[in-house]
Amino acid sequence: MSFKKSQLHFSNSLPKVDFKNQILVYDQILSNKYSSWIKKFPRRYSVSSGENLKDLKHFSSHLDTILKISEGIPKDTMQIVVFGGGSVGDFGGFVASILKRGVGLIHIPSTWLSAIDSSHGGKTALNCAQFKNQIGTFYPADKVYLVKSVLSALPSERVFEALGEVYKIGLISGGGLWKNISQIKVWDERQLWKLLPSLVQAKLKIVNKDPYEKKGLRHVLNLGHTVGHVLESASGLPHGYAVLLGTLFALNWGKKRGITQPRLTLPLDQWILSNELAEINNPGVYLSQDKKISAHSQIRYIFVKSPGKIVVTKVKISELVTEWKRQALRV
Ligand SMILES: NC(=O)c1ccc[n+]([C@@H]2O[C@H](COP(=O)([O-])OP(=O)(O)OC[C@H]3O[C@@H](n4cnc5c(N)ncnc54)[C@H](O)[C@@H]3O)[C@@H](O)[C@H]2O)c1
Ligand SMILES: [Zn+2]
Repeated sequence: MSFKKSQLHFSNSLPKVDFKNQILVYDQILSNKYSSWIKKFPRRYSVSSGENLKDLKHFSSHLDTILKISEGIPKDTMQIVVFGGGSVGDFGGFVASILKRGVGLIHIPSTWLSAIDSSHGGKTALNCAQFKNQIGTFYPADKVYLVKSVLSALPSERVFEALGEVYKIGLISGGGLWKNISQIKVWDERQLWKLLPSLVQAKLKIVNKDPYEKKGLRHVLNLGHTVGHVLESASGLPHGYAVLLGTLFALNWGKKRGITQPRLTLPLDQWILSNELAEINNPGVYLSQDKKISAHSQIRYIFVKSPGKIVVTKVKISELVTEWKRQALRV
């Protein structure tokens, strides 16, 4: 099956859309600030963002309402327009992929993390029994709008939360992108907007080589996510921040194993990672739910040799837990 490539639109303001056949699924946090644009949609569904929204438990009730809202729209012209961060995108994308066996999908990411990463590449996801992204589909949006006025207005903690995915893609890609990223000492929205096209293209370059994750080439995008997902699920850390910590963990472990260049690091204090690791007593329980797990309690793990050179290998969960404990004590 060929993989649809989303049309990318960089714009200053929210797009003009065909409000008649579209259902807007949006984060309620955006209600006031963007009320005049949101109200143009006669059919709209506001959600409360976060991992709870992605919980399978609540899904059928969401779907009941969305189905009612969609009444009267012919299936072939129906579109879900998602306006929100990564959690709303994962949820709304999943809805679009299964509603009437698949309807149109437009992403308008409202966080840096979703603009840089989650709205591209077609992965949709729901969580099940506390474990992240256990259910999902591959369903690229028809269009992704990257809107400067929306992203530039984000509070600074949302800039910080995006950095996990920024450093991740920089380390994977290496070259000029890593050079640009590693030179930035203090991040702000202007730098992210400037780098946005190259960050998106770097992700899409990998996705397009292996869109359905069949050849193993897309696995590199999981750098920082094995440990990151545990921190996110167990401690409720924001996804991008958890990935930043998970990436630092991978660099530390790689150095111990003689894989990673000794001087390669991230601008984050080691003790912050150690403290977060120390908070979790039972990482093994979370790790055993990882989708990257294979037989014999081994898990696929991503190391960085140097920027642009990635090593995908298998490690035993027990080894990872031992390393977890070692890094937790490095305060
Ligand atoms: N599908 C993928 O490929 C992929 C990739 C990376 C991450 N993800 C998923 O994305 C999620 C994380 O993304 P996220 O951090 O964007 O999550 P999110 O949707 O939970 O948003 C983070 C916070 O920002 C707030 N917010 C959103 N837009 C805002 C705005 N314009 N102004 C002020 N506040 C705003 C939200 O209400 C929320 O509190 C996780 O569920 C993760 O698993 C998916
Ligand atoms: Zn991620």
